Amino acid sequence: MLNGQKMLFSGMQATGTLTLGNYLGALKNWVTLCDEYECFYSVVDLHSITVRQNPAELRKRARNLLTLYIAAGLDPVKNCIYYQSHVSAHAELAWILNCFTYMGEMQRMTQFKDKAAKHADNINTGLFTYPVLMAADILLFQSDVVPVGVDQVQHLEITRDIAERFNNIYGDVFTIPEAYIGKVGAKIQSLQDPSKKMSKSDENVNASIYLTDDPDTIIRKFKRAVTDSVGCVQYTDEQPGIKNLITIYSACTKKTPEEVVKEFEGKGYGDFKMAVGEAVVSVLKPIQDKQADLLKNKDYVDQIIKTNAEKAGYIANKTLRKVQKKVGFPERVR
Ligand code: TRP
Repeated sequence: MLNGQKMLFSGMQATGTLTLGNYLGALKNWVTLCDEYECFYSVVDLHSITVRQNPAELRKRARNLLTLYIAAGLDPVKNCIYYQSHVSAHAELAWILNCFTYMGEMQRMTQFKDKAAKHADNINTGLFTYPVLMAADILLFQSDVVPVGVDQVQHLEITRDIAERFNNIYGDVFTIPEAYIGKVGAKIQSLQDPSKKMSKSDENVNASIYLTDDPDTIIRKFKRAVTDSVGCVQYTDEQPGIKNLITIYSACTKKTPEEVVKEFEGKGYGDFKMAVGEAVVSVLKPIQDKQADLLKNKDYVDQIIKTNAEKAGYIANKTLRKVQKKVGFPERVR
């Protein structure tokens, strides 16, 4: 608890470009969570180097992500948005937790198996213990809730196991975190194959709207979106492409699917796709403009980065000191 509120932690990697699906499905809803929780959102650059990165590119992407979050509406005073590498407690606690985690537990993590297969030439031990670092992130903040996608649920489970194991030995040190299942955001599908989720790692660039796409690109991608031969704007599973476009349009305009269907009664897919494209542009353009402003406003952003890292560091170090004492490290001489 901090200021009478429960703790919420989530981390984002700065690799890949966020999509409209990430925005409408998650980010947009995070904006309101700070009323209820003390929120920490870390750009997890320590995690990013488990896969080889270009240093200049990583630095740039990290700043882009941090400013994007602010531009998308996360108030950097009410939310603590910071770089993981600026708070060394993450790495320090991860080391300690490594000594409370078993090889077998890490070996069965599905994400490790997937990534090891994908990067067979670089199966480093950081990739192997990635979930332990994630556990350290979460436990440092005594997090009550952690908003994560389904692909991260297994990592959250192992975090709970590690925390419980530690608590069983040393007493109540860590809060046992839970997955945050809040108001679910809109589920957005691929524009090229509406049976698949819109994903930042889709090889087909036309399948996803990236938050960085300019208006012309956005309109063009919607014009190319896969539909059907029914020729009528209806909200039904028989027309998954059109249904997805209705979901996007209604999330961007706050109209209900029924209202959307009514609005486009008797109109062709061409008109409808154009309207969806314009609605998305009207949501994304202000975010992009705000981000561009932030990227120009170096001093302001640097100040946010500094104060938020200090705030995160203060809380993280309180937990770390407690853990260090519990495991028997010598006390610091003041
Ligand atoms: N592994 C998460 C992902 O790739 C990112 C992450 C790192 C995270 N640390 C976290 C998410 C702590 C939630 C909590 O999406």
